[in-house]
Amino acid sequence: MKILVTYLTALLLACGCSTERRDGQLQENSTGTIQLIFKHHKVAGDPKYMNELLDRFEAENPQIKVEDQTLPASTDEQHQFYITNLEARAPDFDVFALDVIWPPEFAHAGGVSSSQDGAAEQQRGWLLDLTPYFSDVDFSEMIPGPVEADHFEGRPYAVPWYVDAGMLYYRKDLLEKYSLAPPTTFEELASAAKIVLEKENNPSLHGFIWQGRQYEGLVCVVLEYIWGNGGDVIDGTGRVAIADSAAVEALAFMRRLIEEKISPPLVTTADEEMTRHIYSSGRAVFMRNWPYAWSLMQAEGSSVRGKVGITVMPHFQGGESAATLGGWQLGVNRFSQHKDAAVKLVKFLTRRESQKFIALHTGLKPAWKDLYEDPELRAAQPFVAELLPVLMAARPRPVTPYYLMMSQILQAEFSAIITGIKSPKKGLNDARKQIEFLLGQ
Ligand code: GLC
Repeated sequence: MKILVTYLTALLLACGCSTERRDGQLQENSTGTIQLIFKHHKVAGDPKYMNELLDRFEAENPQIKVEDQTLPASTDEQHQFYITNLEARAPDFDVFALDVIWPPEFAHAGGVSSSQDGAAEQQRGWLLDLTPYFSDVDFSEMIPGPVEADHFEGRPYAVPWYVDAGMLYYRKDLLEKYSLAPPTTFEELASAAKIVLEKENNPSLHGFIWQGRQYEGLVCVVLEYIWGNGGDVIDGTGRVAIADSAAVEALAFMRRLIEEKISPPLVTTADEEMTRHIYSSGRAVFMRNWPYAWSLMQAEGSSVRGKVGITVMPHFQGGESAATLGGWQLGVNRFSQHKDAAVKLVKFLTRRESQKFIALHTGLKPAWKDLYEDPELRAAQPFVAELLPVLMAARPRPVTPYYLMMSQILQAEFSAIITGIKSPKKGLNDARKQIEFLLGQ
């Protein structure tokens, strides 16, 4: 049944993406104009800014037109779409946005292929090797985590577009009201949430909300607890450490958050946007989310405008704070028929001016380190200055071409634990065995 559902989802995704057509941009390619297709998820904020950016690109490159097509927001569904299409060597999109966890898999995918004249073409993978086009770019001026993820065997296959790291949001007004400081440990967070909930005595107020649905976001969240307790999925020696006591304790704590009603059961079905909507309507004291949510909460009409603080993820007593590295990259489909034009678009969208524009208008955070000193960005989003060290220190999920398979195992077991179907020990042991099998241990 599960296989059938996955297959049907893949079929649907293979043909059913929505198209965000930009007015007047879809004339056929009869005058030598190159029509590029750019696929990406719905980027936070008003889509008019992405359109404005693409209009600027077209003005600078009058021979190229861009049609952008949006995919569902969930990274898992997008991944399914890309593997279905790229496996079939589909040339029908040129530039696409990649989650930071995909480049190793996509650069490594497939085998030796044949070029038109029948000669063996040694290049593997689904992404165009960008080495010849990006020799003028100094990647050391960007945040290192995504740059590393985008390089495969020392060569760039994608370029960081914006960077994410898990952050803790808190209600400044409510903490001040009860003389509580922003928590630095998970234990402090739980006790502060309990105090506010008791004193406020408001049944529609939740203590702490986070992304607990069975999907990639859950892995991002859980890792912050495991790392924050000194644990890991795979340790420095290559041993699968996911069932060690540090991880068991971390997951037991997460389950207790729900049992003790600090987190409502709805977190087990929540993703980023669901938690953001609840938080923006003033119905939670704490939230874990990516940085994009902050600008949206400061927008006109938000009922928590001016009341929200943002800080680093807590850790367990004796542990260290660890934020999961997230973010999106741009790459060129190796089967595209317009590779040079596609590279131009990637260059344009990832250059400083474009990343600054996106940061100002959507709240997504740039990959260029010096933009964190930018006076205009600092004035608009004061916490940007403190964000750079957090993004620089954010921890990547295991960087391997097999990450997605590993994540599917973790998603199922983490979900079974937080919903109380399996004990932390049992779920993590089951995850350990499957990951060992995957890695041939
Ligand atoms: C955000 C992050 C991405 C992560 C996803 C999980 O989009 O940027 O890296 O995989 O959330 O939901």
